[in-house]
Formats: sequence, C-alpha cells, structure tokens
Amino acid sequence: MTKRIVIAPGDGIGQEVTPVAAQALEILHPDWTYIPVVLGYECYQKTGNPLSDNVLQIMKESDAILFGAITTPPSKDYESILLRIRKELNLYANIRPIQAPGIDITIVRENTEGLYSGIEWREKDRACTVRVVSEAGTRRIIRHAVELAKRRRRHLTIGTKANVLASDAYFYEIALDEISKTEPIVHTMKYIDALVLDVIQHPTQYDVIVTTNMFGDILSDAAAYLCGGLGMLPSANIGSSQHSLFEPVHGSAPDIAGTNRANPVAAIRSAALLMQHLGDSQGAVYLETAIQNTWKAGLKTQDLGGNASTTEFSNEFLNQLSVFVQ
Ligand code: NAI
Ligand code: MG
Repeated sequence: MTKRIVIAPGDGIGQEVTPVAAQALEILHPDWTYIPVVLGYECYQKTGNPLSDNVLQIMKESDAILFGAITTPPSKDYESILLRIRKELNLYANIRPIQAPGIDITIVRENTEGLYSGIEWREKDRACTVRVVSEAGTRRIIRHAVELAKRRRRHLTIGTKANVLASDAYFYEIALDEISKTEPIVHTMKYIDALVLDVIQHPTQYDVIVTTNMFGDILSDAAAYLCGGLGMLPSANIGSSQHSLFEPVHGSAPDIAGTNRANPVAAIRSAALLMQHLGDSQGAVYLETAIQNTWKAGLKTQDLGGNASTTEFSNEFLNQLSVFVQ
C-alpha cells in the first residue's frame, strides 16, 4: 500500500536541505505519495498562523513527516510549533543516533514533558517553567530505550540530575522499576553534567542513553561534535500512534540561511531513518552509501572543511544515488 509522506521544509536552511532529502525519497519510492506543506515562522509572518489546523490534520493522516527546521524567536507570545506537533501527534520519543568510525550511540530523549512541558508563566519580577516528570511518561520512554538496547549492545545509560532535582530522582526511581520488569540488561546512571563530558571523551563506551527532554536536547547537540557537527545528525520522533516525524537535529541556521552553504547530510539521514521506520532498510543503506560516495568524489560542504555548496553537494549526491535505481 502506498505511504503518505508529508514534506515540511519550514524556515531558513530547512528550505535548502529538505528538497534533496525529499527527492531522494521520491527516487527510491515513486510508489509513495508526497504532500508538501507550509508551516513555521515565515508562514506566520505571511498568514498570521505558523501551523494551520489543515496542515496539522494532513500530518495526522500521514504515515511519516519529513521535517526541515523552523525558526522560533524568543518571545512570550510565540509558541514553538514543533513542541505542539510533538504533543498533538504524541511523539514521545526523540531518537538521535550518533555514528562515526568506532562510535555507535543512540540518544533516547523524552519528547513531551520535562522542562519543555509548556507550563510556564511570567510574574512581575520572575518567570517560571514547570518541569514535569510523570510516571506514565517515564515508563514509556524507559521501555522504548530498553527495547532498543536489547536489539543493540544491551547497555543503557540513564542521564539524570537525581542528586539535585526531585523530578529526576523520580525519573530514576521509575526507570529502575521499569528495568526490573524486563530481562536483564546492563544499566548505569550518570549525572548529566558529567555525562556530557564523558560521552565526548569516551564515546565508544556508550550504547543507548536515555534522558529527560532538555538534557537530551543539550547532550545530543554536544555529541554532534563527535561526528562532524550539527549538519550531520538526524533524528526520529516516534510515538504510540502510526505517525512519526523525522528531522535534522539542527535548527534553521539564520546565520547561513540563503547562502547555499548548509550541509544537507542531516536532512538526508533523516530521510534514511524515515525509510528504515517504514520498513525499507535497504533504501536507508543506499542513502548513506550515496552520501559517502559524494564525499569520496571530493564534495564536502564548508562545515566539513570543503568548499561545495548545498546545490553542488545535492546534485552529486542524487547522481550517486541514481546508480542504485538503474
Ligand atoms: P542551529 O542548529 O540553527 O545553528 C547552530 C549553528 O550550527 C549555526 O552556526 C549554524 O550555521 C550551524 N549549522 C546548523 N545546521 C547546519 C547545517 N546543516 N550545515 C552547516 N551548518 C549548520 O541552532 P540555533 O542557531 O541555536 O537556532 C537557530 C533557529 O533555529 C532558532 O530560531 C531556533 O529556535 C531554531 N531551532 C529549531 C530547531 C528545529 O526546528 N528542530 C532545532 C534547534 C533550533
Ligand atoms: Mg537542540
């Protein structure tokens, strides 16, 4: 049966890196249906609404969403639509694989609560954000991480600040209880501040790392250092329903947007995660091989020390990919 794939480039470099990833999907899966949608800050500036009910409905009726990036200006009046999409589609697990020679880590970040619960307010002389850690939210993310670890090297690291935060002491308590219900895996708890440094210093010692929302956000951006920067890292947002959303870890990069310098690898790898999720692991291998072959052909974007533009890299990548569909 055909799959319905929503293509949502969003803002800034999202518009520059998503087209090539979408084209790659279309080359490997002409049998799927692709539905482009407009959303984000630019859309808000034009229409007054960053995420229409119609677009949200199209997302809810899709099998997967390929998302670019959105600009979220710091403002008390503008809510991040990505947080809203994650909540509306119940995408509770953010999976961020970090891969480089000798390194194979998967960060499992809780995606719906923690410090990004959205429960916040301003008072006269202070602002408050509520950090929510629920039993149900913790159990499902821990179960997800444990199942993943079982399919990998069976080692789980739990990142917390349980020594300071009652909400994290709770997260850890529930995690231990959930882990005790399953067949044994090796698990350790590390304080998140020390963990960020240790992952950078000893990355080969890690397999699956599970943590709360903001800690996972920071840890995965820092871990991008291990594999060449933010332009390289994809992520999957998955949940209990059939919906899922795939996006680069990076944002809309206003500092380089419009200059044809963005690295589209994170977006292409997000498309690879999408294919894997929909059962086409071979397609995902084709995408990664075409990326590697493009680098071997001498085309690297500036963030990797090369001088290829986004367009040059993308064209050569599609050229390399076409070899697999002849
Ligand atoms: P960012 O990820 O957009 O950029 C951080 C740095 O990495 C910049 O110097 C940028 O040029 C560089 N970079 C990022 N992706 C790159 C790529 N593909 N190729 C080459 N260089 C790349 O994060 P920043 O600057 O903190 O946020 C910019 C905007 O993006 C903000 O409005 C923020 O709210 C939003 N954002 C959106 C996200 C999303 O849509 N999922 C995630 C993170 C930030
Ligand atoms: Mg981030």
